Amino acid sequence: MAETLPPGTAAVPENLEEAILELKEERNAVILAHYYQEDDIQDLADVVGDSLVLARAAQQVDRDVIAFCGVHFMAETAKILNPERTVVMPDLEAGCSLAEGCPADEFAKFVAEHPGATVITYINSSAEVKALSDVICTSSNAARIVKHFEGEPIVFAPDRHLGRWVSKESGRDDLAIWPGTCIVHEQFSAKELAKLKMRHPDAEVLAHPECEEAVLDQADLIASTSGIIQRAVESPAKTLIIATEDGVFHQILEKAPDKELIQAPGMDESCACNRCPYMRLNTLEKLYLCLRDLKPEVTLPEDLRVKALRPIQRMLELS
Ligand code: 13P
Ligand code: SF4
Repeated sequence: MAETLPPGTAAVPENLEEAILELKEERNAVILAHYYQEDDIQDLADVVGDSLVLARAAQQVDRDVIAFCGVHFMAETAKILNPERTVVMPDLEAGCSLAEGCPADEFAKFVAEHPGATVITYINSSAEVKALSDVICTSSNAARIVKHFEGEPIVFAPDRHLGRWVSKESGRDDLAIWPGTCIVHEQFSAKELAKLKMRHPDAEVLAHPECEEAVLDQADLIASTSGIIQRAVESPAKTLIIATEDGVFHQILEKAPDKELIQAPGMDESCACNRCPYMRLNTLEKLYLCLRDLKPEVTLPEDLRVKALRPIQRMLELS
C-alpha cells in the first residue's frame, strides 16, 4: 500500500532498494534489522538477527551511521554501545509493550523492595530501567545468565512469561518477577493451538518464551527467534507451527523453501494481533528517509548512557 509521507517531504525515488544501498554508502552506514521486519527490509540489511546478535553486531560496527530497523530499545542499545556514531531509526514510534509496561520510577521501587537482589533485566526495556540493573539478558541467554547467579536472590524483569520459563529452566522458584507481558505473544491461544495440533499431528511446535505457560507447555522447542529459525530449518518435520511473529518465516523459507509454516492461532482470528504493531511501523520508505535525512536520531544523556552500558557489557561478557 502506498504510504502517506509527512507534508513537505520530497518524494522518494522509484527504485527504493537501489536508492537505499547508494545512500548507505554515501553515509558510510550499516543497516541492522530484526527478524520481525518486513521481508524487503531484511533483504537489504547487512545483519539480520535476534536481540543478542544485533547487540553484538552493534558492538562491532566500524561505520559512521547505524540505521536500526527494529524497535526503540534495540536502537537505543546500539547507541549505548556507540556514543560516537549516529544511530537512526525509520520510525521513532516503534516501541515495545514490555519496555513501556515497566516505567523506571516504578521499577526502582520494585528493586528497593528486594534489597541485595541481583537485578537481571530483559533487553526489552528502556535505558533508564537498564541503568537500574546489574546485568541484561535476551531470550537466547536468559536461562544461562540466571544460572550464573546461583545462590543469589534475583529480581527478573520485565516479562513474566519469560521469567517463569527461565525459573523452570534454571531450577529457581524464588525469582522476584516484574509482571509485564508482550501484547503480541500473549495473543496466542493455547486452546486453539491444541486443536491445530490435532489437525497436524506430525507438526513440530516452536515457541518464543514470551508466550504464556499453557502455550509453552505444548511446544517441542522454546527458543529465541534465532533458535526458532535454526530449528525450523534443521528439523526433520515438514510442517512447523510457530508461536512468534511471522516475520521469522522469511529467513526460514529462504533456507528451507519446502517447509510448511503455520503461525500458531491467536485468540481473535479477525485481527493480525500476532504481528508486532511496533516493528511493522518501519517501512522501506522510512528507511530511505532516515538515511537521507539522518533522522529520527536515537539519543540519550551521557550519564544515563554510561549507567546503562555497564549491565549490557556484563551480558556480552557472560554470553
Ligand atoms: P528475540 O531476541 O528472540 O529476537 O526477541 C525479541 C523480541 O522482541 C521478541 O518479541
Ligand atoms: Fe516488544 Fe512484543 Fe513487539 Fe517483541 S513482539 S518488540 S516484545 S511488543
